[in-house]
Amino acid sequence: MSIIGGVGDFFGLDIGTSALRMVQLKGSGPVKTLARYGMMPLDSKLAYSDARADQQKLATAIKDFLSQSGVSTKNVAVGLPSSKVFTTVVDIDRLAPSELAKTIQYQADALIPTPLAESKIDWALLGDSPKDRTKVEVLLSSVPNEFIEKRLDMLEGIGLNVIAFEPDSMAMTRSIVPIGQNAAEMVLDIGSRATDLVITMNGGARLTRSIPTGTESIVRSAVQNLNIEEQQAEQFVFKFGLSQDKLEGQIYNAIVGTVDLLIGEIEKSIKFFQTRYGGTKIERIIVTGGASTLPEFPLYVANKFGMAVEIGNAWRNIAFPPDKQNELLSVSNHFAVAAGLAERQE
Ligand SMILES: Nc1ncnc2c1ncn2[C@@H]1O[C@H](COP(=O)(O)OP(=O)(O)OP(=O)(O)O)[C@@H](O)[C@H]1O
Ligand SMILES: [Mg+2]
Repeated sequence: MSIIGGVGDFFGLDIGTSALRMVQLKGSGPVKTLARYGMMPLDSKLAYSDARADQQKLATAIKDFLSQSGVSTKNVAVGLPSSKVFTTVVDIDRLAPSELAKTIQYQADALIPTPLAESKIDWALLGDSPKDRTKVEVLLSSVPNEFIEKRLDMLEGIGLNVIAFEPDSMAMTRSIVPIGQNAAEMVLDIGSRATDLVITMNGGARLTRSIPTGTESIVRSAVQNLNIEEQQAEQFVFKFGLSQDKLEGQIYNAIVGTVDLLIGEIEKSIKFFQTRYGGTKIERIIVTGGASTLPEFPLYVANKFGMAVEIGNAWRNIAFPPDKQNELLSVSNHFAVAAGLAERQE
């Protein structure tokens, strides 16, 4: 633990479906400086496979990646894929903090999908319940112990010291949503396999969920509907996206059905949020992740919901030399989770 900075040295690690990513910051205070960052493509089988051989390969890949990136500490904050994390917002009686902790422990078993004895739970007090004046609102999350233990074994096995596990959605919210933003905003991280959706308000996540649609299923719909090879489908999808006037709208027509499935799920979440919070307006949608740069995707979302849609900047709370600007912005949509993990105030 450094005495002057007040913060121990550590780095953020995102074990994504398509790549490993790390971010390490230096300095102290609210805006730290980028010390190093890195990305290494990953065979998309590895991140989700439970097979021992695949876990071994993943461990070796992480080890190689970290020695290449020149990271100067063993301390790491690691993201948890949202597919493994269950999150819910619950109303709990207004109690003294010590009583509240006990009550949540006691009630958790009925609120989470896995048995309490086999789960690691975590919670954060959000504020007053919008439904009941005698209650407070608590964000509760749980992860199966088995997943955490396996990850921990793997990371310790390559000499790392895990200082925190944090759900990807929480980490990416930290890097993407401006500090002090009280209005309701939605963040969408559209990754390879899944889209993480978070609605924040008054500095906290009020709704978070993972939707099993991402770039893989969008590319797959192009493969199937146009009867082309995957590699070509990927090129077309990322080159033409949702523009209707390119290739006579063939790409648009091939993928719009899958995109609309995602839009339908987003719409459900907006309705759910507004029902709970008395119609509170969501001010804008911020998109990040692989699909956020699909041509005309942000515009498509904006038109569907009549809301402002912006592309998020993973580096918004981080200082870096101006000559790095272009390089960093070109990969910004892949770094929201790693940057958010690195921004944790330990
Ligand atoms: N210009 C591009 N050309 C081809 N593919 C692209 C392009 N930009 C992004 N992608 C695709 O986006 C995906 C990566 O997105 P992202 O970095 O958000 O995923 P991830 O974090 O690895 O996945 P997840 O969050 O689901 O674990 C990859 O599947 C990649 O093929
Ligand atoms: Mg991701």
